[in-house]
Amino acid sequence: MRYLILSDIHSNREAFGAIVSFVKRKKWDKAVFLGDLVGYGANPNQTVDLLRSLRPLVAIRGNHDKVCSGLEEGELFNRMALEAALWTRQKLTRSNLQWLKALPKGPAVVDGQFAISHGTPVDEDAYIFGELEALNVFRHTDFPICFFGHSHFPVIFALSPDAITTVLTVAPSFRFKLKEGVRYLINPGSVGQPRDGNPLCSFAIFDSDTRVVTIHRLPYKLKQAQKKIMDAGLPRPLADRLALGR
Ligand SMILES: [Fe+2]
Repeated sequence: MRYLILSDIHSNREAFGAIVSFVKRKKWDKAVFLGDLVGYGANPNQTVDLLRSLRPLVAIRGNHDKVCSGLEEGELFNRMALEAALWTRQKLTRSNLQWLKALPKGPAVVDGQFAISHGTPVDEDAYIFGELEALNVFRHTDFPICFFGHSHFPVIFALSPDAITTVLTVAPSFRFKLKEGVRYLINPGSVGQPRDGNPLCSFAIFDSDTRVVTIHRLPYKLKQAQKKIMDAGLPRPLADRLALGR
């Protein structure tokens, strides 16, 4: 099976659309979404509609999905994130708001092949930035392979019996074969708001038969996404950061 793995789309219809167009030429069997479909960007309904159109689909919620759909009030959000979340809540159609509200909490196991979580499989709102956090997650779980999001940073952590290693992906199309006997925590990066200093949108394809993960980086109509954010009256830094990849 080939899985299309998407995370942190954040209402960026341009980035998400570029990926959906790109993968039309590639074979994939199931879409897997790791949370944060909305928040920050200017096209919440178009983004929800596009994800809902991908079938088959396995999806879990992110922290922004909870606040944007009214499940949480966002007390821990910064001012800009909260402003965008409350704007999104107003804009969402009733159907899309209900759909977001019903997204399950991670972790989930997909086809017995791998686990998925938004933050970590232990705490959906916690971040994995580096090896210490990754090691802690490995110690408290037993999933051989887990895809996660939330940090908006494409990275692979690998735990062998001896050591933990970090693979930072820099190529526009990075192929990585998973070894037997090694455990992995894999972040496909963010579709709609990358934060690794590279503004290209990021996603992964995982082939469970060959055990190859490919992390792709693609250009998209970034200026159009920025203009929509400005035109919607959302905070300007939310537009600026797209070009910086921060
Ligand atoms: Fe996010």
